[in-house]
Amino acid sequence: MKIFLLFVIFLGSTLGQCPSGSSFVSELNACLMIDQTASNFTVAEASCVSMGGHLLSIHSIFQNAIVLAYLQQAALTSDLYIGLFRNSTSIPWSWTDRSTADYQKWASGEPGSNLCSTIRSIDGQWHGAACSQNLGHICAVSMTASCPRNWNFFNGTGMCYYHGQNATFLEAEKVCRSSGGHLASVHSDAENDFIKNLTWSTQCAYVNTWISGTTLLGGTFDQSRNRTTWWSDGSPADYTHSLRAFPMNSCPQDEEKCGGGNWRIGRYSINNSVPYPDYVCKTAAISHSQCPTGWQYLSLTNACYWHEMSSMSFWDAEVFCEAFGGNLASIHSDSENQFIQDMVWNPSCGQTQDGFQLGEVLLGGVYSGFKKGISYWIDGSAPDFMHQTCDLFGASESTIVMAAHPNKCGSCFEGQWFLPNGAPDSNREYGEFICKAPAYSHLKRLHQ
Ligand SMILES: *[C@@H]1O[C@H](CO)[C@@H](O)[C@H](O)[C@H]1NC(C)=O
Ligand SMILES: *[C@@H]1O[C@H](CO)[C@@H](O)[C@H](O)[C@H]1NC(C)=O
Ligand SMILES: *[C@@H]1O[C@H](CO)[C@@H](O)[C@H](O)[C@H]1NC(C)=O
Ligand SMILES: *[C@@H]1O[C@H](CO)[C@@H](O)[C@H](O)[C@H]1NC(C)=O
Ligand SMILES: *[C@@H]1O[C@H](CO)[C@@H](O)[C@H](O)[C@H]1NC(C)=O
Ligand SMILES: *[C@@H]1O[C@H](CO)[C@@H](O)[C@H](O)[C@H]1NC(C)=O
Ligand SMILES: *[C@@H]1O[C@H](CO)[C@@H](O)[C@H](O)[C@H]1NC(C)=O
Repeated sequence: MKIFLLFVIFLGSTLGQCPSGSSFVSELNACLMIDQTASNFTVAEASCVSMGGHLLSIHSIFQNAIVLAYLQQAALTSDLYIGLFRNSTSIPWSWTDRSTADYQKWASGEPGSNLCSTIRSIDGQWHGAACSQNLGHICAVSMTASCPRNWNFFNGTGMCYYHGQNATFLEAEKVCRSSGGHLASVHSDAENDFIKNLTWSTQCAYVNTWISGTTLLGGTFDQSRNRTTWWSDGSPADYTHSLRAFPMNSCPQDEEKCGGGNWRIGRYSINNSVPYPDYVCKTAAISHSQCPTGWQYLSLTNACYWHEMSSMSFWDAEVFCEAFGGNLASIHSDSENQFIQDMVWNPSCGQTQDGFQLGEVLLGGVYSGFKKGISYWIDGSAPDFMHQTCDLFGASESTIVMAAHPNKCGSCFEGQWFLPNGAPDSNREYGEFICKAPAYSHLKRLHQ
């Protein structure tokens, strides 16, 4: 079997979201949870541990100011336990999370001979407290991983999985990519077992030429070498499951032939137009707190993307994006182009309310006719990627626009770039544009 090469970068970063009742504070890289239930220090710490954290530790004047702002935002006035304690007055202070006790912010005269500590919500000063005193407290808890709706989290890999149906390899891969993922790669028996459980079918009806539950994975297999050779997500082909079947088969009644999560070799190349009954996508876990509401997260770039449907010139659109801590979007790989293409896809060929062509989406690049390539991206990133273009007008300098529609709307195919021969300064307006902002940047702005 042929080996297909696709140049994609695989990023397995596990991100998460804060447990309910807590909020992400990027400067502390933690979720803060205030609990006003009066309890002693031991019980307060135990309560934080049960949430997957500890009582809050604070390590700089900056962090203390951030915590104070957070307490004031919550309109609190009380003293709350933090994690600083000592077993006796003769030994140094420690944090319950075992981090170094490198910063202290005692109010004058504090902490006396007390063995526990609190932060005062009105001024951020620290006070000593008897550990038996019943007070509220602040926990810092870790993020829990989360997946997009209809996706399933597997703790063994920290990744999210989606069970889709009735698609060819290329169709399925496109669905997966629109969530920043790929058809699933498999790297362990546990992951194989998880995917088998996810796709388990009790129907066993034939769908096209396959029994339902025959689940397409994102790999290719080399029969002569008896091993997996390639995964569409670019991860190493370091695992080959017991080979009776490929794609995987989850139909229990077909157990004798293949079933039980075993693999079989597919009949078709990746270009074949016969749909498979089932497939599984895999993508990095996401966090809703990574991006502002309505923005889409791409783990490959660790950035958030916004599709704005209003008419603006290049510089007005750039100012719009900058207000969110971003810029007009730069693009650095086919995968990133595909992700934006899926965001802006628009089959209609009409006009925007204010008379602009739908499906012409402004990006943050400037093309140079002299260089015959990208002159610069407005976000300052390297001009290291040039996508296929159409409608080259030989422009000496032009903005770059992505076609969001099928070619029946014009001369450009979906996802292709074109150069409308408008220099950034020309005041030409565009009907749509894409902003791109580093993940978390909106949270930083709130505190500045
Ligand atoms: C404090 O005392 C507890 C219980 O005796 C002990 O487990 C812990 O290691 C001590 N911690 C410090 C920092 O002295
Ligand atoms: C905190 O309260 C618990 C339960 O009421 C009790 O077992 C524990 O000894 C108390 N600890 C302190 C330091 O007061
Ligand atoms: C998830 O995995 C982590 C370590 O990989 C482990 O500590 C934790 O207990 C697991 N959680 C569940 C619910 O299995
Ligand atoms: C599978 O998808 C094709 C179009 O891609 C559609 O014509 C067909 O009805 C679908 N089959 C099932 C079983 O959903
Ligand atoms: C798959 O399902 C079986 C049976 O319910 C269960 O024992 C096993 O732990 C599951 N495996 C995974 C990885 O979830
Ligand atoms: C192929 O590899 C599997 C293990 O991955 C092994 O069980 C099987 O015997 C091998 N088949 C051949 C024909 O070498
Ligand atoms: C699949 O299609 C692509 C693009 O048309 C082509 O480059 C590739 O060789 C094809 N692969 C097979 C196995 O037909």
